[in-house]
Amino acid sequence: MRATDIGTPVAVYGWVQSYRDHGGVVFIDLRDRTGLLQLRCEPTPHAAAHAIANTVRVEWVVAAIGTVISRGNNANPKLPTGTVEVAVEALEVLSEALTPPFEIKDGLETNENLRLQHRYLDLRRPELSRNFVLRSEAMQWTRQYFTAEHGFLELETPILMKSTPEGARDYLVPSRVHPSSFYALPQSPQTFKQLFMVSGMDRYLQICRCFRDEDLRADRQPEFTQLDLEMSFVTQEDIEAVLEGWVALIWQRALGVEVKLPLRRMTYADAMDQYGCDKPDLRFGLPLHDLTARLRGRVEFRVFVDVFDAGGIVKALPLPPSDLITRKDLDKTFPAEAAPFGAKGVAWARVGAAGPGGVLEWSGPVAKGVSEALRAELNEVLGLVEGGLVLFVADKPAVVNASLARLRLVCGERLGKMDPKAWSFLWVTDFPMFEWDEGAKRWGAMHHPFTSPRADHIGLLDTDPGAILAQAYDLVCNGTELGGGSIRIHRTDVQAKVFRTLGLSDEEAREKFGFFLDALQYGTPPHGGLAIGFDRLLMLLCGAHSLRDVIAFPKTQKATCLMSESPNTVDERQWAELHIAPRRV
Ligand code: AMO
Ligand code: AMP
Repeated sequence: MRATDIGTPVAVYGWVQSYRDHGGVVFIDLRDRTGLLQLRCEPTPHAAAHAIANTVRVEWVVAAIGTVISRGNNANPKLPTGTVEVAVEALEVLSEALTPPFEIKDGLETNENLRLQHRYLDLRRPELSRNFVLRSEAMQWTRQYFTAEHGFLELETPILMKSTPEGARDYLVPSRVHPSSFYALPQSPQTFKQLFMVSGMDRYLQICRCFRDEDLRADRQPEFTQLDLEMSFVTQEDIEAVLEGWVALIWQRALGVEVKLPLRRMTYADAMDQYGCDKPDLRFGLPLHDLTARLRGRVEFRVFVDVFDAGGIVKALPLPPSDLITRKDLDKTFPAEAAPFGAKGVAWARVGAAGPGGVLEWSGPVAKGVSEALRAELNEVLGLVEGGLVLFVADKPAVVNASLARLRLVCGERLGKMDPKAWSFLWVTDFPMFEWDEGAKRWGAMHHPFTSPRADHIGLLDTDPGAILAQAYDLVCNGTELGGGSIRIHRTDVQAKVFRTLGLSDEEAREKFGFFLDALQYGTPPHGGLAIGFDRLLMLLCGAHSLRDVIAFPKTQKATCLMSESPNTVDERQWAELHIAPRRV
């Protein structure tokens, strides 16, 4: 309802947000998912409606009939409907409501568990319901883009299926018909979407639910939604180009942001080297510097010497002058942030004025062990200026990278470099094919076992699996992994070899993926694809900090639904039907 509707007779329905009596006139703020509208109930001539208006309470559902009138001088500029109100002629209570356990309003501080228990009430709050309107729109734009504009078919794959490995634990469903047999819920439709390519469906899209029994975090839910894509007869560049068009479309429609194409690219090796992780937030710089070669044998700082002796590395994070980083950060906050990644400490140097030799002086734990000549060199390569700061971590590469990647984010945040309105997209490419699993003493697939090695690296399967680069890529936005995919193996012999490298015997591979290996032999086109985490996409678009704000009925950190109380026990008859028995724990 807007000023253009003045004079129109209307019937309106909604929830009572608030009500107040102003000298006998009752005002009701009526709410639905589009916003608020004021109802005006005068004592005369519609006395019956006025009498009902005097009885309503918050969250009751009412219907009103009346005429849109101007609010004149009493307009509320904060509301889109603020210039008008409805002069009520008839009012009906459609449903009364218990007093809600929390207020239905934005900026609520209430305990999240209480809100999750009454999720249907939480979803009435505009700041939350808005996210789901955008979610619905984003799905519609996505379908339109891929199916109507780029020739993709929207196809469905089974939910009850055979396990596909994506690195997490499966959710299993016992079969009633086949004792001791289980379906797995899909961790992703990976094998099935590839089989669509074998079937000649050449461009596949599905907005599908995936299930992974893994430890949960703010950006991980046990069931989540992927925008899943697969294409035949394409190169990595073709896939990236289609995706980039979609990214630009979504950001344009949802936020009015023009994303500059093509998106930036960086190899995995460069990302690890410069940012210590494979999903760098590039809204800001602050790159890391590997100082191992420069410092080894030339520095007297004990911690570094010990690490070099053990074959480790030292990397540095140089920071610009700022009083936002305090001594307490250096002594407490930074070591505490780095510790969960295995760092035993964080060494630092503060950069002072130039000394007698004209070289900027250092203070802090590392200063004494660094000669003037070395300091001059480091000032230069690290771009240090008076008042600046350098953080150092020394350890095994994995520890150094992970802890400095974390510290880089902490400092970026502290220095106000994480602009929520800035968007930095990045393709990370050339991932290693395998990573060594020290615990299990075998190779694991870095993406998944269906990912193709680079054509010129296939030969290395026999000699040096660790050196193989895969045709795999991730799409990163502001430090979040939005999606990932790869060009797939389409040759049976290569697929069999990859399974062998992963420690699967031919028998095990047949048992798990026989259907898939068979299919590859019947004329498989070269193909590839990727999957976007649709919830993560919405989280970014909505500026939310948790997937729970963009999933209508989410699970808690402990994988429970507080509202419906799942998971729950089932009666013994059901256990028996499924040929399983409870185990006492
Ligand atoms: P991957 O395992 O990288 O690839 O998953 C793709 C994207 O899905 C999202 N995602 C999640 N979102 C919420 N909660 C989770 N627990 C969760 N796990 C993953 C991420 C991730 O980037 N089949 C391959 C894709 C392919 O190769 O085509 C796959 O599933 O945003
Ligand atoms: P110490 O000689 O143990 O007092 O350590 C001196 C400084 O080195 C302290 O600031 C520690 O936080 C830091 N430190 C200790 N271990 C490491 C490490 N592995 N990498 C970087 N700095 C470290």
